[in-house]
Order: sequence, then C-alpha cells, then structure tokens
Amino acid sequence: MEGEVGTNVVGEALEVSFVLNGRATTVRARTHHTLVDVLRDQEHLYGVREGCGVGMCGACTVLVDGEPQSGCLILAVSAEGREITTVEGLEDASGELSDIQDAFVRHTAFQCSYCTSGFLLATKRLLEEIPDASPHEVKTYLAGNLCRCGSYMKILAAVTDLLERRRTVALAPTKEDA
Ligand code: FES
Ligand code: FES
Repeated sequence: MEGEVGTNVVGEALEVSFVLNGRATTVRARTHHTLVDVLRDQEHLYGVREGCGVGMCGACTVLVDGEPQSGCLILAVSAEGREITTVEGLEDASGELSDIQDAFVRHTAFQCSYCTSGFLLATKRLLEEIPDASPHEVKTYLAGNLCRCGSYMKILAAVTDLLERRRTVALAPTKEDA
C-alpha cells in the first residue's frame, strides 16, 4: 500500500496518532515498524538517522515527551498520544536555527554530521535538566551518543559555550530591574 513502510507484511497496519514537531500527525504502521521507520519513510524526516539499530549509538535519538529516546528501539505503535520532537523541530517557524544548532555550527562540532541530530536533541534536554552542567556532567550526559568522526572535543566546546551564553542571558538585568 502506498505510504506504508517496508516490504514485509508482519502484523496489521494500524493508525497511530501523535504530535510531531508541534503538529498533529497520523501514520499507518505495522506492529514491527520502529519510530525511525515511520519518521523517515512516511514523514520524510531524514534528520532522524539510524546507525547501529540496537540502541547503542544514539544516532536515532528523538525526544519523546521531552525525553531523549532511541527511535530504533521504539515501536511506532507505542508513539500513540506522545509528543515527538526530531531535529527538524528545533528550528523556529521561520526556519531560524535554535541556539543549540547555532552553537554546533559556530564550533564546527561535526565532520560527517551523521551523529549530529542525536547530539542536538540530547543537548536540548541536558540544558533543561542541568542548566549549570559542568564539562564532566556534559560528557556523562551525552555518553550515550557516539561520534565515529571523533568530534567530541568540539561538541563539548559547543555545549559548554551554549551553557555559558544561556547563563549570561539569564543573569542579564531586565527593564524591571532598572
Ligand atoms: S540507531 Fe538507534 S541507538 Fe544506534
Ligand atoms: S560527525 Fe561523523 S559521526 Fe559524528
């Protein structure tokens, strides 16, 4: 059937509805399809990458209700009612990059960029959970994301710079302080 993923017919195709990057979305998924399968093959969100396919590399990281999860390990049918964010959801409506993406660009924190979507999404949650994270905490938090190009030092520089910039903005005096 047009619009369905894969060629093997295993289980029934079910309608699965969720919020994808802020937009109500319905896909048709068979019970063996992963979230990565439907996001790439039906929603054409190619920022969602599949590396190892077994939960070891973090390339497929998406946010599920705000939490970083390995999309290769999540059955699409279990996304029903959830809020899913992919790297495409980090930009604002006008296509302006988020400050997270901007920091990675400024620090050239990638080479091939296969891992970058996963790092960006994990960093989004890191900033929410530990806004004053130390370099050690950044390394520990992002340890589930692997970069085969070895861009770790530049990624660390981008994230620590971003943390510092956000702290500076948060501490800046407002009109109400004047
Ligand atoms: S592709 Fe999902 S963790 Fe590697
Ligand atoms: S930049 Fe190539 S895998 Fe990370």
